[in-house]
Order: sequence, then C-alpha cells, then structure tokens
Amino acid sequence: MIETIEKHRQDFDSRIRSTSTSEPLKQLRIDFLGKKGCVQALMKDLRQASPEEKRQLGKLINNFKQYVESQLEEKQGELGKSAHKPSQNDTFDTTLPGRRETTGTLHPITQVMEEITTIFMGLGFQVEEGPEIETDYYNFEALNIPKDHPARDMQDTFYVEGGTVLRTHTSPVQIHVMENREPPLRIIAPGKVYRCDSDVSHTPMFHQIEGLMVDKNVSFSHLKGVMSIFLQEVFGKETKVRFRPSFFPFTCPSAEVDIQCVICGGKGCRVCSQTGWLEILGCGMVDPAVLKCVNYDSEEWTGFAFGLGIERISMLKYGINDIRLFFENDLRFLKQF
Ligand code: FA5
Ligand code: MG
Repeated sequence: MIETIEKHRQDFDSRIRSTSTSEPLKQLRIDFLGKKGCVQALMKDLRQASPEEKRQLGKLINNFKQYVESQLEEKQGELGKSAHKPSQNDTFDTTLPGRRETTGTLHPITQVMEEITTIFMGLGFQVEEGPEIETDYYNFEALNIPKDHPARDMQDTFYVEGGTVLRTHTSPVQIHVMENREPPLRIIAPGKVYRCDSDVSHTPMFHQIEGLMVDKNVSFSHLKGVMSIFLQEVFGKETKVRFRPSFFPFTCPSAEVDIQCVICGGKGCRVCSQTGWLEILGCGMVDPAVLKCVNYDSEEWTGFAFGLGIERISMLKYGINDIRLFFENDLRFLKQF
C-alpha cells in the first residue's frame, strides 16, 4: 500500500507540472480528491488493514491528501495571476499620445531645401516642379544656348537617347512656367539636376532651387535685395558674401554669389580650391531673348532669376568638407542632423 501511495504521488506530480489551465486542474482535483478519486479508493482499501497498519497507513494517506490539496491551491494561484484579469490599474488611458515608430531623420539636403523653400514662400514665391529628363530645347535652346554654342561647355551634360538630356540645371522650369502662365509671377523650383562632374565639391547628381520673378519694373536691386535677405536668413548677418560678375546666356547682366569658405575661414583649402570662397548660386536679369521665346513683351515686363546649389549651401551651413558625404548613406553622418 505504501508503494501505491508513492505511485499516486508521482502520477499527481507529473500531471500537475504539465497543467497550464484551470480546466485540467479541475479534472485533477476530481481524479485525486473526488468521491471516486484515488484518495477515497485508498481509504476504502484501508478498511481491510489491521488496527496497527491502519494508524500508520491512515497517516500516510492523510499526508498525501493534504499534499494534493496544497499543491492544487498553489497551482490555482499561479494560473490566476498570469491570466489577464482587467483591474483598476490597467484600464486603457485614451488620452496618452501614441507610440511613434522611429524611422530616422530627414536627410540634411531635404532639411535645407525645406528651410530655403519656406524663406522664399515668405517672400511670396510659389513652388513649381519640372521633369528631370528634358529635351534639348528646354535645357538649352529656349534658354538662349543654341546648338554648338560654347556656353554648352559650362555644363558637362549626360545625353539620353532621342535628343533628350538629364537636366543640367533647374532653369528649364522657368520656360515651362512662363509658357503656361501670364506675368506677373514669382516662383521657385527645387529639384535634382545631373552633370558629369565628381570631386570634393561636385557630384554627378545634386540639387538646385531655381527662382524666377517677372513683373513690371523689376531691377537688379530687387534681385540683390532678395538674395541678401535669403542669405542672411540661412547664414546669419555676419557671414561674408560677395557678388561677382559672371556670364549666363539666359541672364544679362549676370552674377555669381560666393560665401566665404567656413571650412578654412577664407584662408584657402581644398574645398574652396584655395580661393577662400565657395560659389553657391548663379543669378541675373532675365535676358530679353528668353522672354521673347515664351512670348512675353520684354518692353513691358522684366525679371530676375537665380539658381542655388543646395549641397554647397548645406556644406557651408554645417561645415562639411566633402560633398560626397551626403550620398554615402552613412548613418553616423546622417544622424547628426
Ligand atoms: C546654373 O546652373 C544656372 N542655371 C544658375 C542660374 C539660374 C543663373 C538662373 C542665372 C539665372 P551653375 O552651373 O553655376 O549655374 O550652377 C549653379 C550652382 O550649382 C553653383 O553655384 C553650385 O553651387 C552648384 N553646382 C554646380 N555644379 C555642381 C556639382 N557638380 N555638384 C554640386 N553643386 C554644383
Ligand atoms: Mg557657376
């Protein structure tokens, strides 16, 4: 009989160990403590024992019964705790802000583009877009750069099949806009442009923002005023800026704007090609030949245009000494912005 009790205990132990819901636990209670359960069966068998054995075995059966009861109780407690019972402490607070997925930061070029766009929108400019694959006409001819003109050499061009090019600048957007709208107008056109260029301050793909204002009596002082406001907003009032006479076939007179190189403080380094200055934009008064091309009366309307190099502006703003860092997708670099 002692052996039988021991066998029941082992059986009970193994069954309770593998129990994980309160339903099988109920069955366990029935099987061991129920009317037809094994504890009752042991009691029945006990009747045949001698008085001496009865005392000894009765104690053992009782111990076993108590053991089963306490084990069942303990297990019940464990299962109750892990089961989800809604209580006052875990009611759902609908006023809490949602959890945000972290998806990185905006690329520094995107951030600077957005900053510049906001500045020009504040000055009344509207945002326009144009295609990145252009016909020769929009990229060159309508901008007063005829075929075989040496000015085409200023921009190392990727030619695509069928007389199309990857646009070398955002200036063709000027033509698209003027073809479709009547003056007066004030627009900017941010986007990607492509040139066969590569070194510490040139990449084959980079970003420009084109600007165009056409109205009555627009003069070079308006251009200088708008450029100065923009440069002060981006770089602060202390930054040294210079307007340098230049040439573009689609503007006359033309200028380029340089900012004192922040990498070397104007002393000359490899980023500024030892000049102390870094060119960030080209601009000028819209050439009457361009206005004629889009059927604007150049006696009635005048305008200015400009094209900003976003990578160059970002390099100067953040003190970045190699333009290629923007396109390497190194998180250690990108996470700093
Ligand atoms: C132009 O692209 C003219 N379309 C700008 C313009 C617009 C003049 C409207 C007048 C009126 P340019 O080739 O200089 O100009 O380029 C403009 C700016 O783009 C440069 O000042 C420079 O900041 C940037 N840039 C030029 N080439 C690269 C390059 N390969 N990588 C990065 N930035 C460049
Ligand atoms: Mg230039």
